Amino acid sequence: MAGRRDGLLTRPGGSPSRGSRIAMAVAVGILLGCVCAFLYPDGLFRSFSTSPYHVQGKSEKCETAERTNTLKSELASLSQKNEELKKQVMELISKLKLAEQGKDQAQKQFLALGQQHKAGAFGTVKSLRTNPAVIPDESVNPRLAKMLEKVAVRKELIVALANSNVKDMLELWFQNIKRVGIPNYLVVALDDGIERYCNASGVPVYRRNSEEGIDRIGRDGSNHAVSGLKFHILREFLQLGYSVLLSDVDIIYLQNPFDHLYRDSDIESMSDGHSNMTAYGYDDVSDDPPMGWARYAHTMRIWVYNSGFFYIRPTIPSIELLDRVADRMARQPDSWDQAVFNEELFYPSHPGYEGLHASKRTMDIYLFMNSKVLFKTVRKDAHLRRLKPVIVHVNYHPEKFERMKAVVDFYVNGKQDALDPFPDGSRS
Ligand SMILES: *[C@@H]1O[C@H](CO)[C@@H](O)[C@H](O)[C@H]1NC(C)=O
Ligand SMILES: *[C@@H]1O[C@H](CO)[C@@H](O)[C@H](O)[C@H]1NC(C)=O
Repeated sequence: MAGRRDGLLTRPGGSPSRGSRIAMAVAVGILLGCVCAFLYPDGLFRSFSTSPYHVQGKSEKCETAERTNTLKSELASLSQKNEELKKQVMELISKLKLAEQGKDQAQKQFLALGQQHKAGAFGTVKSLRTNPAVIPDESVNPRLAKMLEKVAVRKELIVALANSNVKDMLELWFQNIKRVGIPNYLVVALDDGIERYCNASGVPVYRRNSEEGIDRIGRDGSNHAVSGLKFHILREFLQLGYSVLLSDVDIIYLQNPFDHLYRDSDIESMSDGHSNMTAYGYDDVSDDPPMGWARYAHTMRIWVYNSGFFYIRPTIPSIELLDRVADRMARQPDSWDQAVFNEELFYPSHPGYEGLHASKRTMDIYLFMNSKVLFKTVRKDAHLRRLKPVIVHVNYHPEKFERMKAVVDFYVNGKQDALDPFPDGSRS
């Protein structure tokens, strides 16, 4: 048979003889048979052989039934291999699908941000830092949604958490907010006493329904437990579509902060830094003399963001940040929320860890001033003394209430010596 086929294929040009025409017909028949057998699995082949036409054709042109059997068994093994291959491909596809699922969510978010673009010319390229706000979801908390409609201005407001332990500071806090004329602020009361007090003082107050277990923390928990709760509660404000200026109560308002925000980042926060370098970042060179030529290693340092005063926009990265901090606070109750907040915000992805990709902005340290800046630098500098901050946060000192009153005396009542009695740091 091989010989015949060879003959057919290698015969030079010229009209074929009668014998060679028969050989050609035989070869074509076999070829057709093989092709059909190869293309169709067992079933079709069997139907072929039961068709009288083909059986007759074969009995005339094919050599033997033996050949048919060989083909059949070859086919069987081929289709078995085919099945195995198919199975392997299906497995690969399902593995691929699984791998894709993780990326899927992020990709959808990314696609939602807009079309793909070509990069523009040198110097014209600017990446996205102002992420789109989420679609407000009132079903999360209809009661809070109604309240925020009344209290918020342009979908933003100041929010402070308070329990009865901080009543004195809270009073000073809202007195100054009222004096400056800021209408959009809200106290989240963690106990009945504070709710009553706010009601009586004409302060917008929101008391969560106490069925949620986390509220128990607010009533009798430590400061740090309250800090963890804060991130849970904030989430609802963001889900409802509001930007929140989260505020501790040891803060004196001297101007309306909403006139001094950039609103271009997920998180815009005041700094614990006390100078341009420490607040905005610098190259801290580490020295390892035994390394000789390469003894200097450059490191990046920045003083932490203050988790007691930050503006957070209602975006996916912002909500993810709150979730990550709340989750870690729940799993590591002894951790400090400010440290966790900063780690989640700043650490990049690395093996075994996926970093958060939130955009951030450090607030001006002389406008959003911490008490270290005030007591160590500003009060001793003739020029800086004349600048009026937007807020002063007494975060660096334990005798908070006294220093808060002194800040009011200095900036509001014009008592030039009001800050003098206090040392730079704490008394002990
Ligand atoms: C505070 O005022 C609200 C609205 O008027 C009221 O529903 C709530 O019961 C008051 N809370 C307290 C503790 O008096
Ligand atoms: C800190 O930065 C501000 C703004 O860039 C600048 O005006 C000021 O002079 C800087 N202060 C110091 C001490 O370098």
